[in-house]
Amino acid sequence: MHRNIDLKVLYFGTPVVLISTGNPDGTANLAPMSSAWWLGNQCMLGMNTASRTTQNLLREGECVLNLPSAELVGAVDRLALLTGTPELSQHKIDKGYRYEPDKFGAAGFTALAADLVSAPLVAECPIQLECELVSAVRFDRADLATAFTVRVVRAHVDEQLIVPGTQHIDPQRWDPLIMKFCEFFGNGSQVHPSRLATAWEIPQTVPARPA
Ligand SMILES: Cc1cc2nc3c(=O)[nH]c(=O)nc-3n(C[C@H](O)[C@H](O)[C@H](O)COP(=O)(O)O)c2cc1C
Repeated sequence: MHRNIDLKVLYFGTPVVLISTGNPDGTANLAPMSSAWWLGNQCMLGMNTASRTTQNLLREGECVLNLPSAELVGAVDRLALLTGTPELSQHKIDKGYRYEPDKFGAAGFTALAADLVSAPLVAECPIQLECELVSAVRFDRADLATAFTVRVVRAHVDEQLIVPGTQHIDPQRWDPLIMKFCEFFGNGSQVHPSRLATAWEIPQTVPARPA
């Protein structure tokens, strides 16, 4: 039996991406996001228009999509309520966000120079995709979100994930960090408490496994 409900959140489960972009002063920004899907060598990204990432991507025209494995969840969660933009919207203030210019330091991640773009790679992420911007369109009438299309121009993959002798990732070895209804999952199980879920007041049925 199905019921009609006024569904509050539509985040059914997508991989977490750490997107690095260049700031106007030459430093780097890093933000977790999960409205991302791939087709061919392109990726579509949904980003809040007011975020630093959106401003940087529109200006610089490039980014790196760093894919964290589930074991990096603690560092990802440390970035959850941070923004690289000093001017916070009232919505972000109410949810408990704060300005952080050094996101790599805050997470404990190492920045590595990329080959083709100026935004850095996150060394700890097993998959790092250097990308160039293809298009950016407003996603809704209120201009709250921007839908980006980016093209992957270079892929860096931890050799332990590569099927030997091929150009393929072994899906048995790759354990992506998944965001499902604002909670963190890996290998089908909830792996860590989520600051995002707390800020969004997502109801809990079972306490998340501590890190
Ligand atoms: C797991 C996770 C997934 C997120 N997914 C998105 C997303 O898909 N799009 C988005 O705009 N923000 C998303 N956010 C929120 C951004 O990380 C947040 O707005 C952040 O402040 C953006 O940083 P920036 O302003 O420095 O770009 C997500 C946060 C977390 C923790």
